[in-house]
Amino acid sequence: MSEYHETYEAWRRDPEGFWADQAKEISWDKEWDTVLDTSTYPNGQWFAGAMCNTAYNCLDRHVDGGRGDQPALIYDSPVTGSSKTYTYAELRDEVATLAAVLEDMGLSAGDRAIIYMPMIPEAAMAMLACARIGVIHSVVFGGFAAHELATRIDDAKPKAILLASCGIEPGRVVAYKPLVDEAIAQAGHKPDRCLVLQREMEQAEMTARDLDWAACIDTARTSLRKADCVSVKATDPLYILYTSGTTGQPKGVVRDNGGHMVALNWSMKAVYGVDAGDVFWAASDVGWVVGHSYIVYGPLLAGCTTVLYEGKPVGTPDAGAFWRMISDYDVRVLFTAPTAFRAIKQQDPDGDLVGKYDLSAFKMLFLAGERADPPTVQWAEDRLGVPVIDHWWQTETGWAIAANPAGLGLLPVKHGSPTVPMPGYDVHVLDDAGHEVASGETGSIAVKLPLPPGCLPTLWENDARFREAYLDEFPGYYKTADAGFRDEDGYLFIMARTDDIINVAGHRLSTGGMEEVLAAHKDVAECAVIGVADDLKGQLPLGFVVLKAGADRAADEIERECVALVRHEIGPVAAFKTVVVVKRLPKTRSGKILRGTMSKICDNEEWKMPATIDDPAILDEITAAVTERGYASGRNQ
Ligand code: COA
Ligand code: AMP
Repeated sequence: MSEYHETYEAWRRDPEGFWADQAKEISWDKEWDTVLDTSTYPNGQWFAGAMCNTAYNCLDRHVDGGRGDQPALIYDSPVTGSSKTYTYAELRDEVATLAAVLEDMGLSAGDRAIIYMPMIPEAAMAMLACARIGVIHSVVFGGFAAHELATRIDDAKPKAILLASCGIEPGRVVAYKPLVDEAIAQAGHKPDRCLVLQREMEQAEMTARDLDWAACIDTARTSLRKADCVSVKATDPLYILYTSGTTGQPKGVVRDNGGHMVALNWSMKAVYGVDAGDVFWAASDVGWVVGHSYIVYGPLLAGCTTVLYEGKPVGTPDAGAFWRMISDYDVRVLFTAPTAFRAIKQQDPDGDLVGKYDLSAFKMLFLAGERADPPTVQWAEDRLGVPVIDHWWQTETGWAIAANPAGLGLLPVKHGSPTVPMPGYDVHVLDDAGHEVASGETGSIAVKLPLPPGCLPTLWENDARFREAYLDEFPGYYKTADAGFRDEDGYLFIMARTDDIINVAGHRLSTGGMEEVLAAHKDVAECAVIGVADDLKGQLPLGFVVLKAGADRAADEIERECVALVRHEIGPVAAFKTVVVVKRLPKTRSGKILRGTMSKICDNEEWKMPATIDDPAILDEITAAVTERGYASGRNQ
């Protein structure tokens, strides 16, 4: 039996004992009364009764334990030409000072703060400063527009917003402050204060509500103000992270303190095979779950050195950027999305730039965020000569549901599979009636309750939506909304979403949310948005609109307005660039739009005429319209 199988069986025999053992690696202010309390949430709450502080475990614990001089965070920013390293002692002091500023702003445990910042050290410090004083943070990705930010402000009701004056995208500076101001103007809830970090590339205009970050830090430093760690319940929320649901209303995924620390700390060694002192780099963004778990919390809990990279895999300055980083900082493990490797492969197909750098410290590449397509995995294996490990998880789970656990001895890699379930996850593949399907057969992937530590206990102030979205369809299970199969060796294959979520460059987006925006255009009567395959980003959204009777302006003018509207309402991250005006949308006799068939037509996959279609001729019209736009037409069987 492999170490993985032994570990998985040990967990199965005694799930609570297994996690109680892992919890010994964490410092608790008070031990738990119950390892798993099932009396409150349907999904249970881990380490109920325990008291702890996540920032203490990420920073102070290591300083007290003798790691004060070890690098904790390396910031490297090719877009500004700067870099800086913070030791554990330095990062702890920065965080304690910023936490004092937050206290002076009137924030205390249980309050919420929204963080809208680019990939700069202060973003991680802001998260940790909130954690230090029990403030619940909610980081919003910089590529989201004001309206998305407003939705999150109204849901989380933050007392303060922490922001930087700008982010830097290749070729343009994105001013963040006007977006925040517009979001606050749109939102019903108004935060008391904004703490604004002025970056030299863009000075934000300040209002009476705004405080200058640098000035506040200076004042706190001069008066030697530092905030102590506040002991919170293990079950208290550490953060809320909004993720796309099936409508324009994002889901506020709640992460607790105690279970989250236990799971992430375990995963660093068992899944990623790293120890304290190793350099771990997740090339993602703090706005996504990967950034929360593996840029900030996971590596710091484990005493690693984490890397925060303000740049892209290509163009900053070239497709050798990742190799330069690995070589400069002796990165042991890199974690990124397959799309980053597709971008590198596109620009440097033979991997010539790899040879320019010393990658001797580099031991493993982890991929997640979207399906790792076998050609990309093969390319990375050939060029890098290290194991390339696909693993599968979601914002909701916070860490890997399935992986090939490097710390437990790698299992043979099968391209296209994120390998096997991790301890904590009892994964089942179910048919529509909730019965297990045979191996090799595709079904809905569900995890038997309870979920392990680290996974969401609920959605922010919305238990009803939590149940409805995740628990109701398969009683006793958590519905992942992913479809796939398990092969005879027990390897999982994750093939598609079962809802309207699409995955664009590793970013999770709701086509339903985009449809809501299009439907608000004054000339649009009806619309549909589908995901179509894209060589670089995996998927791209494609919109279809039917105009209202009497809308007599040129179709291309309305199409341009629709594209601009989605960019304005959702943000550039939606990568919504194409919309097609059509006369009618294909529907079933009961009025359901046949989005799946439309996707197949656009992707040149074989498709069957749906038996319930209202008017088959509409599919010919759709085929003609998308063929004209360069999408491949499908072949009717
Ligand atoms: N603030 C403002 N705008 C942002 C932004 C941010 N933080 N992040 C992205 N954007 C903008 C981009 O500039 C782009 O705008 P454009 O339409 O004007 O070109 C748009 O949002 C889409 O961004 P993205 O999807 O990142 O595409 P890209 O073409 O800029 O880059 C990749 C493509 C593959 C290089 C890029 O997606 C990447 O590096 N991915 C790495 C994987 C990753 O981060 N995954 C996250 C989950 S692990
Ligand atoms: P997010 O919540 O943004 O992390 O997106 C989670 C979704 O991304 C999952 O539900 C999957 O649809 C997809 N995903 C993430 N990792 C993988 C993977 N390794 N293989 C296939 N799909 C993945």
